[in-house]
Amino acid sequence: MHVHRFERLWLVGALTLIVLFIGTVTYGAVGAGYGMVDATGGEVDQTNPTASDNFREPGVYNGSEPNHYDVYIEAVQFAFVPGTSEPIRLPANSTVTFHVTSGDVVHGFEVVGTNINTMAVPGQVATVTVEFDEPGEYGLVCNEYCGSGHHTMEGSLDVVPPAEFNESEVN
Ligand code: CUA
Repeated sequence: MHVHRFERLWLVGALTLIVLFIGTVTYGAVGAGYGMVDATGGEVDQTNPTASDNFREPGVYNGSEPNHYDVYIEAVQFAFVPGTSEPIRLPANSTVTFHVTSGDVVHGFEVVGTNINTMAVPGQVATVTVEFDEPGEYGLVCNEYCGSGHHTMEGSLDVVPPAEFNESEVN
């Protein structure tokens, strides 16, 4: 069977695109560190998360190792606790595990400009572990529609030079 040269070129081009598309979808699914939201941090009483063993009073805690911090965040309509009324402060050169839950409805927890982005689901604790190498100021936004004040739900995270971080800020 004779296939015209241009037809063959189009065929090769189309097949190449299909392979590339499948490749990018596969990379996005398994290679880029994305994961489905799940209760990695365990489940909690959704009406009172802090009553559960795996969710502490919201705030910054020393983690399991030096320079490791655990941050417990409760999202509520329409604030991050902590994060909205005052910035979450963390030192640079640290590894931080965020434990995020919701006290009412589904919220989002995104640290703008980073790849930290998860849902805050009532009754579940999502955990995200990241490293902050450099000082910087980040915004927090809720990216799940959570009610009339959704668009106002924001906060901030300050990663400060280690010398400016006081261990007394840690619970
Ligand atoms: Cu909380 Cu939108």
